[in-house]
Amino acid sequence: MTETPPVDDWATDFDLFDDSYRKDPGPVWKELRETCPIAHTERWGGSWLPTKYEDIQAFVRMVPELSSRNPLVVSQPKEEQEFDPVLAEYGNSAPPITSDPPDHIPMRRMILPLFTHKAVAKHSAFVETMCHELIDGFIEKGSCDAALDYAVYIPAKTIAHIIGVDAHRVDEFIGWVRGVIELNAGDADERNKYNRILRQFFGELVTERKANPKDDMISSLLAQEINGAPVSKKAVVGMCNLMLVAGIDTTWSSIGSALLHFATHPDHRRRLANEPELMPSAMEEMLRVYSPVTMAREVTEEVQTGGVTFKPGDKVLMNFPAANRDPAVFDNPDEVDLDREKNRHIAFGIGSHRCAGSNLARLEMETALRVWFERIPEFECSNPDAVIWSGGQVRGPRHLPFTFPAQ
Ligand code: HEM
Repeated sequence: MTETPPVDDWATDFDLFDDSYRKDPGPVWKELRETCPIAHTERWGGSWLPTKYEDIQAFVRMVPELSSRNPLVVSQPKEEQEFDPVLAEYGNSAPPITSDPPDHIPMRRMILPLFTHKAVAKHSAFVETMCHELIDGFIEKGSCDAALDYAVYIPAKTIAHIIGVDAHRVDEFIGWVRGVIELNAGDADERNKYNRILRQFFGELVTERKANPKDDMISSLLAQEINGAPVSKKAVVGMCNLMLVAGIDTTWSSIGSALLHFATHPDHRRRLANEPELMPSAMEEMLRVYSPVTMAREVTEEVQTGGVTFKPGDKVLMNFPAANRDPAVFDNPDEVDLDREKNRHIAFGIGSHRCAGSNLARLEMETALRVWFERIPEFECSNPDAVIWSGGQVRGPRHLPFTFPAQ
């Protein structure tokens, strides 16, 4: 875990890795919204943190003044980068999330067919069977780590299945993705190491599929054209990389946060167990209150908003999680209301980069919660103090000690 010095002033020195922020950022956002709605920090290379829904909406519309091109993760910048042949060949990009206009739309169009409702529905039996098998592995014990024995495997195995990579290597994929986006914020070399491993892995796989096409995602991406020219190997490697990176920690976090909520709120747990028809609104409420993803943009042209002038080179964090707790948009925003009817949350982002995988994320989350509640309707967190939250731009529980009646 990344240790950082304590924060004295959230308006001028916020820290996404602070211990209290990882556990519960709601009070910080509330205070900032009332006193300094766009906070700043010099930590981790410096960035701005908006907390109001309307400001985030304004920022996502600022294209091209705010760019997605640099893969912006909150981490300690490194002045001198050693030459790395793998990164030199494949670069650092992960289209479409790191693309700006005019490249963004053609890149996004390449992957959208994989995530339509119809395409995603084809994976529902796979996800359902997997959830049952995972539960079979621990239900007799009466205890498990709901983050590490259950939640993490649902998106990881599903995306490995969709991409067409060896599911037996799923623990390695999880380690690589965590190495790039969650751990090592203070160690650029370590992050690069995992970035290189991912690119090398997909580089070899894409070369192999080019020679021997199969009926899978990589082969279908390779068969596409952009503006009449074959898509580059580099772009396909970047896209595969994005599928793992965007697909695992995000949904792992959402499933884990929801399970933790129900484990620590027995009234809500009982309601969902007894009224399964509540699932759609309960799931959207979990996505709103425990939104896991904070993206970032880099300022390329001076812009002003909310009384702040942003200069070229500044980083702005797309704080979708804080927007989802803004009282200007949501009644009693810090309260979990399983029946909430008006819930236009932006956990999946908004605008041109809105999550391409949201149908898949919802299928995984709905199946994970439904199967869990069918099999284990009574459960609790045996030690809430032992829960570990990831810090940085994808926030979710990484250790969840649960107990339940053994079956
Ligand atoms: C609950 C789970 C998830 C959440 C909360 C989430 C959230 C987000 C957010 C906020 C963005 C916007 C990024 C931006 O504005 O820069 C995004 C983009 C994206 N997400 Fe997700 N995501 C989730 C799951 C997934 C899954 C399962 C996949 C696919 C495997 C996926 C694939 C993508 C892709 C490809 C983009 C880039 C879209 C573009 O740039 O046009 N996401 N996601």
